[in-house]
Amino acid sequence: MDKFNLSTLITEKQIQEKILEIGKKITQQYQGKEDVVAICVLKGSFMFYSDLIRAIDCDLACEFFGVASYHGEIKSSGEVKITLDLNHPVEGKHVILIEDIVDTGLTMSYLIKNIKARHPKSLTTATLLLKPGALKTKVDLDHVGFEIGNEFVVGYGLDYQGLYRNLPFIAQVQNMN
Ligand code: PRP
Repeated sequence: MDKFNLSTLITEKQIQEKILEIGKKITQQYQGKEDVVAICVLKGSFMFYSDLIRAIDCDLACEFFGVASYHGEIKSSGEVKITLDLNHPVEGKHVILIEDIVDTGLTMSYLIKNIKARHPKSLTTATLLLKPGALKTKVDLDHVGFEIGNEFVVGYGLDYQGLYRNLPFIAQVQNMN
């Protein structure tokens, strides 16, 4: 775990507190609603997703959507590639789309367009991290955990060259090239 120097940016405790907060808001929002589907955007959001859905107190189905544009590197390739499509139609369902990070916003914007084209009854977006200074497109976000600067971050699902996804906190990589 010490190939690169990491410094903690957001602690495990801060993340978990924020998740309870967002989970409460989503629970209130979805009270009495049926046909709720929570979509995990692989790979990065698997950890946030699994913690957040446990903080949402309503019946929901789980779906997984695989997309990639960074391919383990620091910069987005700018092209979003589907690596795994949804298993079931979301037409007529209340969809909660869960991302780990909105950086340039290209992925979230692509996902919103893609899911809206499948005619869900409603769509709510949640991201743990947002880099307002890096956005290249306007994105509608309903729930944002933390706004951060333009630093490259890893941990809690996010990787650099495939590593660090298993850290329970968000860290900044200090000595990357
Ligand atoms: C990361 C992250 C988001 C996306 C955000 O995915 O999980 O999906 O980048 O960046 P953007 O706002 O600039 O589009 P990545 O392509 O690294 O794939 P991964 O989740 O499999 O690591």
